[in-house]
Amino acid sequence: MTKFFDRILFGGDYNPNQWPKEIWEEDIRIFKKASINSATVNVFSWAKIQPSENYYDFEELDQIIDRLSKEGFDIVLATSTAALPAWMFKKYPEVARTDYDGRRHKFGQRHNACPNSLVYQKYAERLATKLAERYGENPQVSCWHINNEYGGECYCENCEKAFRVWLKDKYQTIEAVNKAWNMEFWGHTVYEWDEIVLPNALSEGIGYEKTAFAGISIDYRRFNSDSLLKNYMMERDAIRKIDPTTPITTNLMGTFKGLDYFKWAKEMDLVSWDNYPSYNTPWSLVAMTHDLMRGLKQQPFMLMEQTPSQQNWQPYNSLKKPGQMRAQSYQTIAHGADTIQYFQLRRSVGACEKFHGAVIEHVGHEDTRVFRETAALGAELAQLSDIIGTQSQAQVALIFDWDNYWALEYTSGPTVDLKYVEQIHRYYRYFYEQNIAVDLVPVDADLSKYKLVAAPVLYMIKEGMQERLTDYVKKGGSLLTTYMSGIVDQSDNVHLGGYPGPLRELAGIWVEEIDALAPEQSNGVSLVNEELTGTSNLVSDLIHLETAEALAHYTSNFYAGMPAVTKNTFGEGTVYYFGGQLEDQLQDQLFKMIVEETGITPVIKEATKLEVACRENAEAKFFVIINFHEEAQPLPEIFVGETDLLTGEVLSSETKLAQYTTYIVKEERN
Ligand code: GLA
Ligand code: ZN
Repeated sequence: MTKFFDRILFGGDYNPNQWPKEIWEEDIRIFKKASINSATVNVFSWAKIQPSENYYDFEELDQIIDRLSKEGFDIVLATSTAALPAWMFKKYPEVARTDYDGRRHKFGQRHNACPNSLVYQKYAERLATKLAERYGENPQVSCWHINNEYGGECYCENCEKAFRVWLKDKYQTIEAVNKAWNMEFWGHTVYEWDEIVLPNALSEGIGYEKTAFAGISIDYRRFNSDSLLKNYMMERDAIRKIDPTTPITTNLMGTFKGLDYFKWAKEMDLVSWDNYPSYNTPWSLVAMTHDLMRGLKQQPFMLMEQTPSQQNWQPYNSLKKPGQMRAQSYQTIAHGADTIQYFQLRRSVGACEKFHGAVIEHVGHEDTRVFRETAALGAELAQLSDIIGTQSQAQVALIFDWDNYWALEYTSGPTVDLKYVEQIHRYYRYFYEQNIAVDLVPVDADLSKYKLVAAPVLYMIKEGMQERLTDYVKKGGSLLTTYMSGIVDQSDNVHLGGYPGPLRELAGIWVEEIDALAPEQSNGVSLVNEELTGTSNLVSDLIHLETAEALAHYTSNFYAGMPAVTKNTFGEGTVYYFGGQLEDQLQDQLFKMIVEETGITPVIKEATKLEVACRENAEAKFFVIINFHEEAQPLPEIFVGETDLLTGEVLSSETKLAQYTTYIVKEERN
């Protein structure tokens, strides 16, 4: 299913419970002026709804929901289970998490429940059930929002026991566990299940980032992701039993490391996420993260949160410049969002988020820049419901995989500078700049429809992956992969027989050694067939050609003359292998060649610095055109004479897009 709402939900987190009732009326008046049509409520109200163990009080929530329902708002109803009430900690200290350093926490903060605490589970499930019984039939409740931004870890004894059960289920025997984790190393062989302990600072952890046994730590991450997912599924099932149709989601956090979102998305009706780039996050990375969120289910998603202006929790919380929030919202829509929701609708009076932007600021009235921009956007979005459910059509797939994320960053050597998201973004950037649509896909995606599959730093090759990639290339697909690929199996044990292990035959090479380059070091690289030379850094694979040809060579270091980039024909297809991290101009040159060879077409042919993305369905195509650059950019020829859907402006050859200017051009198909 791709269409969940009839209108673009425009609203966001709304906490009237933090305010006296007089203000509620004022809120509604102001919301209407901004065409706000939805509100996410009850995100953090557990203590109010259940003030003590055996007493529930829905009076205030009833009033909030009544009020919003009567006014025709779409209600995104949260379950409030992301922050526990104080009484629960007092009576059942086991509900608190034990952190990486082994400290059992007390009451405080949020996202603070041990996912394996039976007490927490019992009360969370009960709360979800009660909410569904009470509000499930209300037609204004358009979406369930379970918990909030699941994340974090627990290392308590309950979790330790649950981990052993999880392991038994996965490995069956203790021998299999020892083998998977290579426990002969340092004589860590275990003989009884209860000898297994969680890998934290008190056991295998080396700082928080590294570990002596990546196999254990990766399994712990899988287990922890599963534990939280089970919490989600428990609430979901409780609601589903009572409310058979309202879509259910939880808000995700983009490239957040802690949870395997591809696995999570299978359990969600629709993906929602919270977009909080910093003042210096590249727009290409924001775009990539949206593509990842769309890729989780290959369907449109909800933007559950963004700030209308500034944040409070970054080191530097810059204001969004005039027009920036609008441009960012349309970028979100361009990459697949069907809702635009804010955190939050009214700015808090106290605690750590009082400096977090909101639609209604501390001044209390609507005569503010932020409000005017919000209202202008709201009026535009109200006209744009045709875009709901449309999809982008990508010819390029970029593999993203949480097991690889964890494994690559746990690995000790060859360099500390290998960061997974940074690497994936490195290979996304070129496509973004060329306005070539990209799908971010999991390792088990159907690859057959793509002209190119990019699998950078595919460090861990799990079962079935080699076969899938081989099959894809054999039938004519093009695969791009890099250094630090094909190295280990699902337990972080090396695929023996020369790197890149299972990709060796496909790539037609073998890598004998992997050099690490410190930040101040680089190697010279020159392209074969081109007059271009440059540098590579980070790591350098010492490559031997088997059936491949070299596209570039190193020109320095003791391995000068060895291939740095290769190309191999395999079956009907082609495999490109990058042995070093090339500087941008070299990489761009090679990517240009690969794009030509594979026949990939951008969203529009004309070269432009504008971001141009397209969403389409059987009736129409919607081109979203945005300038994120400081300098004004000319309008591409192809849009001259078209009308901007948002403002009705007719676009001419004179049109220049100042920074953050955004147009949408609709092309009917008939
Ligand atoms: C997250 C949370 C919100 C709020 C915002 C602030 O996304 O879900 O409750 O804390 O951050 O940016
Ligand atoms: Zn725990």
